[in-house]
Amino acid sequence: MNIELKPEIVKSDKSVYTIYKYAKMESTNAFLKQHCSSLPDYSVIWADDQTDGRGRFTRIWNSQSGVDLTFSILLPLTSLEQKQRQNITQIAALSVAQTLEGYGLKPSVKWPNDVLVHGKKISGILCEVTETEERICGVLGIGINVNNTEKFLANLDIPATSLRCELHHKVVRQDLLKKLLEIIINCFSVLCHAGFTQNRQEIIKRLAFINEQIVFTDVKQDSYFGKIIDLNDDGTLLFECEKRGVISLNSGEIAFHNSYTMRKHL
Ligand code: BTN
Repeated sequence: MNIELKPEIVKSDKSVYTIYKYAKMESTNAFLKQHCSSLPDYSVIWADDQTDGRGRFTRIWNSQSGVDLTFSILLPLTSLEQKQRQNITQIAALSVAQTLEGYGLKPSVKWPNDVLVHGKKISGILCEVTETEERICGVLGIGINVNNTEKFLANLDIPATSLRCELHHKVVRQDLLKKLLEIIINCFSVLCHAGFTQNRQEIIKRLAFINEQIVFTDVKQDSYFGKIIDLNDDGTLLFECEKRGVISLNSGEIAFHNSYTMRKHL
């Protein structure tokens, strides 16, 4: 990791964050976890080139140097209740969706951590928790396809899109990042002071696949057919499972429509 290289530093005049922009590193989440004890809350690590980006379930996050946006922000979790820490991924997805709406797009939130446009993935989120001697930190990592071309996206293993593909013009990544950071910090503050309720309403308005037949895959890789009914007060998903009745899901993944060739249907 290139901690020895000096980052470009961008301080916000109206908010609490500081952006440290690096040319290249393996993973902004890994970097922030390693250095969180020496960094203040709301430090943002942005890598122009992320060479070993990771997603949920240790998947690879593919990116293109200088083309997309890969960053992580350090959130203070010490005074946040355990159950609300689980909502951070979803409020991050909501923040990304609201930011993209500012560009005229109509995104949806694919519970719990993806943002889609026209049913294709445009952003993925990975929130990890790490503890130092003094505090508990949330390392919230976000990848957004910004100026990627259709050719690059066609080689990914899921349907994906970018702002450029949707808007038919390039987007300045630093402007996008600054707008998004304002919204994330505001949504996080709402979560800390008022709980999940207000953000929940906003997520429901944008929830992908609600009342649609979907396949849900749990952490053990077992798959279930059923229908999403609602988002519960605590952020779990209310799911009408064909085989098990109405259940609440707290982790796992919803399949993309065209990846229904799933392993084991229960
Ligand atoms: C997913 O889709 O499963 C989550 C993808 C998260 C990718 C971002 S890119 C910035 C940050 N650094 C990482 O290594 N991962 C996250």
